[in-house]
Amino acid sequence: MDKKNFIAIAIDGPSASGKSTVAKLLASKLNFLYVDTGAMYRAYTLAVLNASLDPKNEEESNSLINKIEISFNDENHITLNGKDVSKEIRENNVANNVSYIASYKNIRLFLVSLQQKIANNKNIVMDGRDVGTYVLKDAEVKIFLNADVEERAKRRFNENKEKNIKSSYEDCLENIKKRDYIDSHRDFCPLRKADDAILIDSTNLTIEEVVFKMEEIIKSKGYSL
Ligand code: DC
Repeated sequence: MDKKNFIAIAIDGPSASGKSTVAKLLASKLNFLYVDTGAMYRAYTLAVLNASLDPKNEEESNSLINKIEISFNDENHITLNGKDVSKEIRENNVANNVSYIASYKNIRLFLVSLQQKIANNKNIVMDGRDVGTYVLKDAEVKIFLNADVEERAKRRFNENKEKNIKSSYEDCLENIKKRDYIDSHRDFCPLRKADDAILIDSTNLTIEEVVFKMEEIIKSKGYSL
């Protein structure tokens, strides 16, 4: 990769579109830092639950702004106040409440400011819902990754099976549709494709094929890999 400038690659898309898997793989191939912004919303949600606050209550949830420390350790695992919480943030109690937390403007501003600080002067791949539209508006490469909702539900269902998490395909479909609605209808920074983002539909693509397409997009912008 041409190192004259730092390059930011923003990858946005809905739940279970495969963002994190391909973003992580792409970052490792390019030797870029990878930042999962969804994990940061999940860590904040965990902090709210640990403090016995109500995630449905915006004012209570806001009370932890600037009082907790969310970062990534040397292994690139997410930490909350210094503790590795990468497993805990995937549990159901967090998953079921994170959409509320992600809809609160002041919490978003707090986490966006952290994300911008982490990305400053680095080669970075960052994934989320608002990276290309808001967090890294000037990112050199912006990709919007999507897939049919049925395919995304199938992927989530298979993922749960592998992790021994009990769920049905219908539950996964319902949950993803609900998350899509909440993520794309909130007032502040809703999920949407940035005008200058390139759309990849991963419905019929393998992980490797998606990464290959991303590399082609990066090259088409004039960056040598
Ligand atoms: O990608 P994920 O499922 O780990 O994201 C968890 C939640 O956080 C999801 O409800 C969307 C929200 N989110 C967000 O609003 N903005 C981001 N940049 C990343 C995630």
